Amino acid sequence: MSYPRVIAHRCGGTLAAENSLAGLAAAARLGCRGVEFDTMLSADGVPVLMHDDTVDRSTDGHGEVSRLTLAQLRRCRLGDEPVPTLAEALACCARFDLWANIELKAVAGGDDAELGAVVGGMLARAWHGRGVISSFSLDALLAAQSQASRHAYALLFEALPGDWRERVAATAAVAVHLDAGRLDARGLAALRAAGLTVACYTVNERDRAQALYAAGVAAVFTDRPDLFAADEM
Ligand code: G3P
Ligand code: MG
Repeated sequence: MSYPRVIAHRCGGTLAAENSLAGLAAAARLGCRGVEFDTMLSADGVPVLMHDDTVDRSTDGHGEVSRLTLAQLRRCRLGDEPVPTLAEALACCARFDLWANIELKAVAGGDDAELGAVVGGMLARAWHGRGVISSFSLDALLAAQSQASRHAYALLFEALPGDWRERVAATAAVAVHLDAGRLDARGLAALRAAGLTVACYTVNERDRAQALYAAGVAAVFTDRPDLFAADEM
């Protein structure tokens, strides 16, 4: 599938608080065409934007996301705003015409299939579908697909595992997202020969991004979208 070459990581990279609506607005203002963000469920089952299992690092609150209700999460501040819901982020992407990579972020001890099913259900109802759904969790991806079969899916890995072909077949994934530091030429060639789009995270140097594009990587996730010109995005 066609990816933007530069994907702002966790909404706007370092342009704003991570996984925030302000990040989406900042990415759009800069001229980004694509953004990535992480989603997980509140204790009462509402998909919110968050990367870590707890709110401690990225907000002024404390506690595990999966044990906090939406009302409690909304009292946790990310800079000037409360923890966003996935619904708000999707509306923002529609408003700014952003391609989006929605990452289903499985939490330790959590129910990956429930995460996938709830988010998949929401995406089937409320997302324009311009972008891709990804996860490190195969169970989360398969559950999302059971609810949102028309959307595109990507497998997310640190290093490419030996059984990647089986996982691609199980999910009909159109893309594979890999840690740029774990990418090897042979794996990249095999993925491309299989017709898959390859995107790499997290690339915060322009030269490194250009070397990856030259090697056949379609897109990079970056905390520094400001290093790229608008016509390179
Ligand atoms: O999806 C690419 C990247 O976001 C995966 O790593 O830990 O930043 O979610 P992480
Ligand atoms: Mg992510």
